[in-house]
Amino acid sequence: MSGRAAGPMVVEPGGPLRGRIRVPGDKSISHRVLMLAALADGQSTIGGLSDGGDVACTRAIIEALGARVEAGEDPAGRPILRITGGELGPAQTDLDVGNSGTGIRLLAGMLAGLEFASTLDGDASIRRRPMGRVLDPLRTMGASVTGSGDDGALAPLAIDGGGLRGIEYRLPMASAQVKGCVLFAGLSADGPTTVVEDRLSRAHTEELMAATGLDVERSRVEGLDRVTVFPGRPVPFVHDVAGDPSQAAFWAVGASIVAGSEVVIENVYVGPARSGFIAVLARMGADVVHDPVTGDLTVRAPSGGALTATTVRADEVPGLVDEVPALAVAAACADGETVFEGVGELRVKESDRLATVESELGRMGVEVRAEGDRLRVSGRPGGQLRGTSVDAHHDHRIAMSCAVAALVADGPTTIDGWDAVATSYPTFTDHRAALVAGGAGA
Ligand code: S3P
Repeated sequence: MSGRAAGPMVVEPGGPLRGRIRVPGDKSISHRVLMLAALADGQSTIGGLSDGGDVACTRAIIEALGARVEAGEDPAGRPILRITGGELGPAQTDLDVGNSGTGIRLLAGMLAGLEFASTLDGDASIRRRPMGRVLDPLRTMGASVTGSGDDGALAPLAIDGGGLRGIEYRLPMASAQVKGCVLFAGLSADGPTTVVEDRLSRAHTEELMAATGLDVERSRVEGLDRVTVFPGRPVPFVHDVAGDPSQAAFWAVGASIVAGSEVVIENVYVGPARSGFIAVLARMGADVVHDPVTGDLTVRAPSGGALTATTVRADEVPGLVDEVPALAVAAACADGETVFEGVGELRVKESDRLATVESELGRMGVEVRAEGDRLRVSGRPGGQLRGTSVDAHHDHRIAMSCAVAALVADGPTTIDGWDAVATSYPTFTDHRAALVAGGAGA
């Protein structure tokens, strides 16, 4: 479903990165706009959608539930989707989220509110990831949801939708997926639903719900972030999805570690709990500028030499949770030891990212230690990594982080399991080639 190509990727070391690129549309936003368009009674138009396999799965799922999706072009010739929603019903088969944790958790919330039965399933990685974190609040709302596995907290998830009550739920961990799940379920509850967060996670669900005519209230009370959604349906909308900051982060790190680089990443989303990597790279000495009008992110290598190490505090982590593997590559090329605190959530991503960053950057000669919920990276100014064989562990962000690290290796790096990259960034290899060529021609 995700259109994966098999085989390892061999990445040669590269000189400076130079040029302008447009990364895929934000993945988190793409899932949510597809779901909101499916719920809206009428035709919505979406441009700039992520072209990754994860979002393709969510698109196929809303179609299986009865939304009509037509591909077209805007007046400038860019691809758009016209989605007619509003009359969803049971699918003929199980719904396959592929590799997408965001897809399964958000859709579980939406489907728990719709009065028909559904089964959500995904690939082997999805079947290992914890689903209790969404099953618990959904059950508190009165949902009939059944998980699998010994503790009943794994996919596939059988959902018999309808009959929800509004609740107030304090998130036990910083998770925009769990927040989004509860808020999507709240659209079909009998009263308001509130999610309370100790640390604000990415705010796309509430931003997009408000933008599509839903009644959403946000506040900060006694140091806690609160968001309340009232039952309702979105009105049809037009949305142009901005570029994904989590993909931009790979080029931001690449430009920061290779002397002489200058990269412009066009139209990048920078919103609550998504831009933490910009502050961290700036703190390490990279020259990073975000233009609030165009959204363009310009990154240049530090003029005075290598990056310097930093400590990433636990309270910063929700704002850069997906960027830790890429930032670990920056840390590997920085002067001193960088410590990432409070990064335990990385253990339950597409791979155990603390273990896989440790093992794969370790193979490239970097001293990395994953200790409990901390990650320590001892950097060597300028990198000097070892070109060798590494394994993506079926994790797109580990594969792409290794490809960025390969820029400063002493020989070719062979990345096994490169096909995982198609879940979020099918054009990564083309973009890398364009930026390396831009640097060669400078
Ligand atoms: C996402 C939330 C984060 C993030 C994931 C996308 C979202 O997961 O890692 O890639 O779109 O809500 P958690 O909610 O598990 O932190």
